[in-house]
Amino acid sequence: MFGKRTNDPSSVASPAPKPVTAPKAGAGSSSPAAKQSAAKPTTTAKTPSAPPKPAPEPEKQRSHSEEYYDVKTTVFNALIDTIDLTQLSKPDSVAAREEIRDIVSEIIQLKNVVMSIAEQAELLEDICNDVLGYGPLEPLLARDDIADIMVNGAATTFIEVNGKVQKTGVRFADNTQLMNICQRIVSQVGRRVDESSPICDARLPDGSRVNVIAPPLAIDGPALTIRKFKKDKLKLEQLVKFGSITPEAKTILEIIGRVRCNILISGGTGSGKTTLLNCLTGSIDLDERIITCEDSAELQLQQPHVVRLETRPPNLEGEGEITMRALVKNCLRMRPERIIVGEVRGPEAFDLLQAMNTGHDGSMGTLHSNSPREAISRLESMIMMGGFALPVTTIREMIVGSVDIIVQASRLRDGTRKITHITEVMGMEGEVVTLQNLIVYEITGEDANGKLIGRHRSTGISRPAFWERASYYGETDRLAEALAASEVYDEHGNPVGDSNG
Ligand SMILES: Nc1ncnc2c1ncn2[C@@H]1O[C@H](COP(=O)(O)OP(=O)(O)O)[C@@H](O)[C@H]1O
Ligand SMILES: [Mg+2]
Repeated sequence: MFGKRTNDPSSVASPAPKPVTAPKAGAGSSSPAAKQSAAKPTTTAKTPSAPPKPAPEPEKQRSHSEEYYDVKTTVFNALIDTIDLTQLSKPDSVAAREEIRDIVSEIIQLKNVVMSIAEQAELLEDICNDVLGYGPLEPLLARDDIADIMVNGAATTFIEVNGKVQKTGVRFADNTQLMNICQRIVSQVGRRVDESSPICDARLPDGSRVNVIAPPLAIDGPALTIRKFKKDKLKLEQLVKFGSITPEAKTILEIIGRVRCNILISGGTGSGKTTLLNCLTGSIDLDERIITCEDSAELQLQQPHVVRLETRPPNLEGEGEITMRALVKNCLRMRPERIIVGEVRGPEAFDLLQAMNTGHDGSMGTLHSNSPREAISRLESMIMMGGFALPVTTIREMIVGSVDIIVQASRLRDGTRKITHITEVMGMEGEVVTLQNLIVYEITGEDANGKLIGRHRSTGISRPAFWERASYYGETDRLAEALAASEVYDEHGNPVGDSNG
């Protein structure tokens, strides 16, 4: 989506970038752009009232020299003296870029700026990004290898690449510029972020998820977090290649998905829950009617019969919100065969369990938790917090009656992502929900480079509780084989024991 701007007329109304300094009155220019825009005031920019704190400048992180930034500021100021930037946000980016290019070249000549051709090209690119796109974020947005972009105020930006978080040299002129870019992003989805509504979720045109939290809540300047949308979602084969699961565990997951087990995927933020959910939907048969409910559509189902639903946040007046619970409830009236909930985080847990319990088996969802055991208690508390006046035992019975499998995804401390548990929800022993691990990942050591060494293994269960289902779908041979092949033996040739708990 690099540099792409919507042609949607509504985007015209979006605030234009705030000039670094206010245009000086009467700045003369013979540029045609100046004449063309002279009638229009430049004041449509909705500038946040947060005081622009000068960004602290970490010397080591600078990718350009101090002079470069000085020149850029000079040229930028001259540019905004010359043309009306609000007029520029209208034309498509190619035409606008050409226009800016001409004026910038002119300015560089007029001001006698000494610059190499390469530097000039870079300066031009930089300025175009500031004026037309997402400023210093553009080069990061253009990279496909970045999973997350985390901006902590104007001076500090981190990215996640290959599971590792690293600091970049990217910086914004000041918090005002950063805030303007945040504003430009969220206004594309009809939202606003400023001091009075300082928290905002939005989406980039390419589907990337965006969160902005602004001062005064964010103390050191606006914090912008972007989870970049991956066009090519990872497949199970790739997870095998990365060592996230073994080929045998992949087979087990495929069988679990196919034979309509109710599945919860548990994991921390960025552990790969959504990726895994997307993979699991790959084993759903082509003739099933699937309804997906998400906060922000990420799943990419390959089946022909899919209805995709998305929640809606409240509008600027705080009205019109459609919650996940409302979507899941509505789903039930749409004759679904499977319901897929992107992320269960509230009272919709109750409705999803109900659905799983009442003939929509094969439903799936993800939730935020660090182990299969914790997933159960998270579900419990989501239901209790949702205001359902049910005794805890009843809720647990409901969970046991609904959820068949919990798959745990984890991002380990060396940055790798693993599927650490494939666990069955068995039943109740007194008040306690019993779980049975089928496959676990255990860490056995660490190499000299800090990479963790570990292995996936079966816990010795040869007949999982969903055996009957597997049998109905003719999958028992494949299942037995995959489980047997996952056994690991110790030096005496005995299978490594169970690790349930
Ligand atoms: N097993 C994996 N190996 C490597 N990268 C992965 C793996 N699973 C997910 N990812 C990547 O990690 C990022 C976060 O994944 P995602 O599924 O969105 O996490 P979650 O839904 O848990 O927040 C994505 O960029 C995704 O491509
Ligand atoms: Mg997710």
